[in-house]
Amino acid sequence: MQENEILLKEQLNEVVMKFVIYKPLIAKSAKAGQFVILRGREGGERVPVTLVDWDAQKGTITIIIQSIGKSTFMFNSLKQGDSFLNILGPLGTPVEIKNYGAVAVVGGGVGIAEVYPIARALKEAGNKVISVLGARTKDLIILEPEMKAVSDLILPCTDDGSHGQKGMVTDVLKSVVESGEKINAGFIIGPIPMMKFTAKLMLDLGIEPYASLNPIMLDGTGMCGGCRVSVEGKVRFACVDGPMFPARTIDFDELIRRTGEYKDREKTAVEHYEKDHQCKLGLH
Ligand SMILES: Cc1cc2nc3c(=O)[nH]c(=O)nc-3n(C[C@H](O)[C@H](O)[C@H](O)COP(=O)(O)OP(=O)(O)OC[C@H]3O[C@@H](n4cnc5c(N)ncnc54)[C@H](O)[C@@H]3O)c2cc1C
Ligand code: FES
Repeated sequence: MQENEILLKEQLNEVVMKFVIYKPLIAKSAKAGQFVILRGREGGERVPVTLVDWDAQKGTITIIIQSIGKSTFMFNSLKQGDSFLNILGPLGTPVEIKNYGAVAVVGGGVGIAEVYPIARALKEAGNKVISVLGARTKDLIILEPEMKAVSDLILPCTDDGSHGQKGMVTDVLKSVVESGEKINAGFIIGPIPMMKFTAKLMLDLGIEPYASLNPIMLDGTGMCGGCRVSVEGKVRFACVDGPMFPARTIDFDELIRRTGEYKDREKTAVEHYEKDHQCKLGLH
């Protein structure tokens, strides 16, 4: 067993893979809300992913990756026994875990994996945890049994109605509160528009919202400024000051603009990756 080695790989759905990796130092100090930066090979991109789980005794960390572009396609093609080139972490400020009373934990798509360690820590701190899991369709709802184990109430929903309530996480959250549930704080991780609208709804419902931001990151240590976001009218670095921030004053529109800046180059990188991949496949 060597450092950064993939001890277990599990496919959660067509585009999402779970990896258990040998990384004892990170496993020893990880906390809910933190992340690592991965590289697959020399010269490869630095990619931030959330620490979903860790086991200090076994020296393992668990990460879950959705294939969305060149680097994540490459990571998800690694096999059990392969190793990541390097894994930097734990990075970021852990989420403040305390007894808020009743909390809503809202995850969208792969954001369900990212919000899981927070739900678990909030449950351990004595909160009543109400989890709302949203995705386009049934297969994209991941970790439902794990989320159920750390929640008092679990409410899946899908855009197409193939699992749980038909509709969006905001519809579900609204009906929970209308049924008389008093929720004090909410933790949201998912696509940026989903976080924007969920945070707004939470404020309307008297719930204090927190959202985990996912700007482009490079060094992950506060040096490059690539991950800057605007919170309370101030510039903050998501990699060191976050990634979780109080959501009432986040400038989500700026975040949407900034994360979209490299769309064309990201598209070209995937096209080249797919072309290279097909060529190699053709040799066999
Ligand atoms: C703190 C944090 C935690 C994250 N946790 C997870 C996780 O647990 N699982 C998971 O699947 N994804 C996670 N992500 C998102 C993941 O980092 C991006 O999907 C990945 O970088 C995309 O790289 P790519 O080359 O495959 O795709 P690209 O084609 O390069 O990009 C696809 C999209 O991902 C975003 N992105 C690209 N590069 C970066 C970067 N260096 N930093 C941040 N975002 C980027 C962009 O918005 C882009 O539109 C997290 C991001 C952050 C910031
Ligand atoms: S990633 Fe460079 S400052 Fe945050």
